[in-house]
Amino acid sequence: MCGIVGYIGEKCNLKRVLINDLKTLEYRGYDSSGIAIYDGNMKIVKSKGKIAYLEEQLESIKINDSNIGIAHTRWATHGEANDVNSHPHRIGCVTLVHNGIIENYSELKNNLINKGYVFVSSTDSEVVSALLDDIKKSEHDNLKAISKLIKMLEGSYALGIIFDDDYEHLYAVKKDSPLIVGLCDNCNLIASDIAAIMDHTKKYMLINDFEIVKLSKNEVQVFNSELSLVNKDVLEVSWDINHAKKNGYSHFMLKEIHDEPNVLRDTIIEYIKDTDTLVNKMPDFSKYNKIHIVACGSAMYAGMVGKYIIEEYANIEVSVELASEYRYKKNFYDHNTLVIFISQSGETADTIAALRKVKKDNIDTLAIVNVVGSTIAREADRVLYIRAGMEIAVATTKAYLLQVAMLILITLNIAYANKKLNRDELDKILVEFGTIPNAIKDILDRKEECFDIAKTLYKSKDIFYIGRGIDYALCMEGSLKIKEIAYIHSEAYPAGELKHGSISLIEDKTNVVGIVSKELLSSKTLSNIEEVIARGAVITLVTTDDLEDNFSFPCQKFVVKKVNDIIQPLLIVVPLQLIAFEVARIKGCDIDKPRNLAKSVTVE
Ligand code: G6P
Repeated sequence: MCGIVGYIGEKCNLKRVLINDLKTLEYRGYDSSGIAIYDGNMKIVKSKGKIAYLEEQLESIKINDSNIGIAHTRWATHGEANDVNSHPHRIGCVTLVHNGIIENYSELKNNLINKGYVFVSSTDSEVVSALLDDIKKSEHDNLKAISKLIKMLEGSYALGIIFDDDYEHLYAVKKDSPLIVGLCDNCNLIASDIAAIMDHTKKYMLINDFEIVKLSKNEVQVFNSELSLVNKDVLEVSWDINHAKKNGYSHFMLKEIHDEPNVLRDTIIEYIKDTDTLVNKMPDFSKYNKIHIVACGSAMYAGMVGKYIIEEYANIEVSVELASEYRYKKNFYDHNTLVIFISQSGETADTIAALRKVKKDNIDTLAIVNVVGSTIAREADRVLYIRAGMEIAVATTKAYLLQVAMLILITLNIAYANKKLNRDELDKILVEFGTIPNAIKDILDRKEECFDIAKTLYKSKDIFYIGRGIDYALCMEGSLKIKEIAYIHSEAYPAGELKHGSISLIEDKTNVVGIVSKELLSSKTLSNIEEVIARGAVITLVTTDDLEDNFSFPCQKFVVKKVNDIIQPLLIVVPLQLIAFEVARIKGCDIDKPRNLAKSVTVE
């Protein structure tokens, strides 16, 4: 989703600096971009499409070295993606960039039109620049003007603002959209996320809702909405800068899949030494008799895996809900319910809103998050961090794997506490858990097999993923990956349900991916696979080495090592990710930045 970045500091070739910073925000997803630099005159350049087009346009415009500028990647919400709707927006004495959605923009716009303002774009953001300009007519002080502005705005925003009467300061403010400040020796920055400041500094501040920031070359002041100074902690980015680089891989997604053995080890190592370590490191879940898991996208599908294992091993009822639904529906929870929020970014708008709703009802919350200090991490009662490092490819891979790993650790902990597993059993599973990073490495060495499978799938119009129980949960993620990056319509179906309708879509040469990892259900899924074969389906099987001989029908197979059922999903998902990647690569898709998608969905 939209990304903002702003610079105030030593005079420099700001065009270059801001373009580089914008490129680090590309992964969030965008469809146009723009830049505003003051070099004695306010120069604004905007372009639909890739940042490369913006760069081309900038070539033909002379911009002198400058000390202040703002830039933006836009993911269209109000108004199509075109040059005019791109940010920055400038009206009167105000130039700004905006990430978020202003819900009352149309009412504000009408009032401003009545006052004589003329709008050239269809965006809500241009309305904010006009409103601030209007406020400035009677309020000379810029901080007071912003304080008045935010009392009039409804919705979400992170704003980077330049005022014509103060080119020595950059201003910013936020509500429900992410904003950080990067602190350097010769400049200060605002940005939507850490990626944009990593080339400049490791030091940053997290900005809270309604805080107003005033930055100069060598000072950052943060005020609350009533304009009292706020003391902010200066934090340090712990991520390795290499996480933001491809390190020789053709794509971030491929690199991130190859990161999986290491990040899995980093995430689980502190928990798996033995039963005592696990118990001591995990929160106490003993009071809960019901769990809700709330998330979006792949994080929700990780939650589906969590549901199957928590219910089976820990004997606690789990419901998994989409945050965009949960936030508006009636929820049945009480003080013995734990609501777990899963989010890679920790900034997904729907997940944040659902979390706030649950907190308002005084129900216990736990977050499983990757980005340290993100909104969800800060607002949940407790947080368990996965250690994926930075994930750049829009389609998540390593973070999904680690979300599943964390849910497995939670399950094992509760199962032990509920006496569903004894110490010996648990110790044994923990030892085997420690072997999973290497087992994933072995799978990654078999990329050729995934490529061969991809060659048979890439021409498909539709692909069905079928499985039962936990395999069905994994089908959901496999199917989403192929949709996201390879643009192939795909459905994940519980194998036993197919015949109640969707089997009518199976015809000669329809591709069906069957996932069979659980012995107990394998013969059942096998029958369902036979049913689709009888109707002409071509089968790809992802299964385990103890089961592979059970299947005598013609099919291509990817076979992974059999491990304890509870940790098996960690091995099954890897070929699904690699196959989707190879299909997308053969099709020539923009794998790291699939069309229309955003990595960090910061609007509703
Ligand atoms: C977007 C991304 C998905 C991700 C989902 C939830 O849709 O494209 O890959 O699973 O958001 O993101 P979160 O940061 O909350 O895990």
